[in-house]
Amino acid sequence: MELEHLFSPGKIGNVQIKNRIIRSATWVARATEDGYITEDFIEFYSKLAKGGTGLIISGYIAVDLEGAATPRMARLYNDSYIPGQKKFVKSIHEYSDVKIVAQIAHTGSNIYNKDFEPVGPSPIWNNIRKKLCRELTTQEVRNVIKRFVETGCRAYEIGYDIVQIHGAHGYLLSDFVSPVYNKRTDEFGGDYQKRAKILVDIFNQLRDKLGKNYPIFIKLNTRDYMEGGLELDEAKKIAKILIDTGYDAIEPSCGRFNVRFSRRKTYPAVMLKSTDDENYFLPNVKALKPVMKNRPIILMGGVRNPITAEKILKENTADFFAMSRPLIYEPDLPNRWKSGDTSPALCISCNACLGVTRASKTYCVTKKKLEEKK
Ligand SMILES: Cc1cc2nc3c(=O)[nH]c(=O)nc-3n(C[C@H](O)[C@H](O)[C@H](O)COP(=O)(O)O)c2cc1C
Repeated sequence: MELEHLFSPGKIGNVQIKNRIIRSATWVARATEDGYITEDFIEFYSKLAKGGTGLIISGYIAVDLEGAATPRMARLYNDSYIPGQKKFVKSIHEYSDVKIVAQIAHTGSNIYNKDFEPVGPSPIWNNIRKKLCRELTTQEVRNVIKRFVETGCRAYEIGYDIVQIHGAHGYLLSDFVSPVYNKRTDEFGGDYQKRAKILVDIFNQLRDKLGKNYPIFIKLNTRDYMEGGLELDEAKKIAKILIDTGYDAIEPSCGRFNVRFSRRKTYPAVMLKSTDDENYFLPNVKALKPVMKNRPIILMGGVRNPITAEKILKENTADFFAMSRPLIYEPDLPNRWKSGDTSPALCISCNACLGVTRASKTYCVTKKKLEEKK
């Protein structure tokens, strides 16, 4: 078979995944305003599960009311969310060979809800909220860690196969890692080791609660694309710390949500102009690979062509491939590729899906327009 490696099983921790295709976390804006799971949410994911993806990472799930970034985002900071979430995870497991990950997140300074003040490691200007964010006290940072641990434990209880910590895109944890956003002088700020401490503490406390067999991995910013910001050299050292701590895999990302508007190309959902722009985080994957101790590294960002993915796998440069926008257009893309139609994803990477999502549910605008023309 032409895509022999792409459709061979792989593992994150001890969880077996039927192929190397992952749905990267995507906010689908189908929870209720309060973050409860709806039938529409379940239906959206059922299509993905039927479409052949081996591992689905949920859109970000808030660990705290003050960490709920966006409208209609799922939440899991108290037990009232458990029944709906259980129904959701059960529905995915009905397609028994599909595994599901809970991505858990805290928005930090990018909170959309104006009832809450933006918070962060240091009082840095937030250009979405147009104000300085409030610096968390050391005790509040410990509470954030506790929130991640409690939410991770709920995800485990619900039946999620894996937990992913959201450490990217300008949300709270990536602010801690960033030398621009973290100017703290306590145990959670300073050199890169201290800036990574929050990620180490979350992992260690979760590991204590969940035992050694439950996989925990991270989506990690590896560049801020800002003057004085996180650069790949330092990200590599941080990745080493995380792998030495025990994280089971890393999905490298880059960029910040709050600089998206001023510097469009820096947001992780980059608009691809040509096939040369595909796999745009490949240099980051290559840089981190040597510190991975044979644990999987996931190539995300502009993955569009299965033949290229197959080649990258054969060369042992990446272990899995994660996609977001292509699977909004074609939830059955992995099945299409597996059936022998290996033409690239139809997604044109226009980012309109991201643009509509604040006001409506997430959908592929380009596909809808094409369908309306028919
Ligand atoms: C509509 C939309 C929602 C997203 N939601 C999330 C999210 O909840 N968590 C996250 O880590 N990344 C999120 N992302 C970023 C994607 O996971 C991914 O990193 C980015 O889109 C690049 O991958 P792609 O080229 O395959 O789209 C989102 C992207 C889009 C387009």
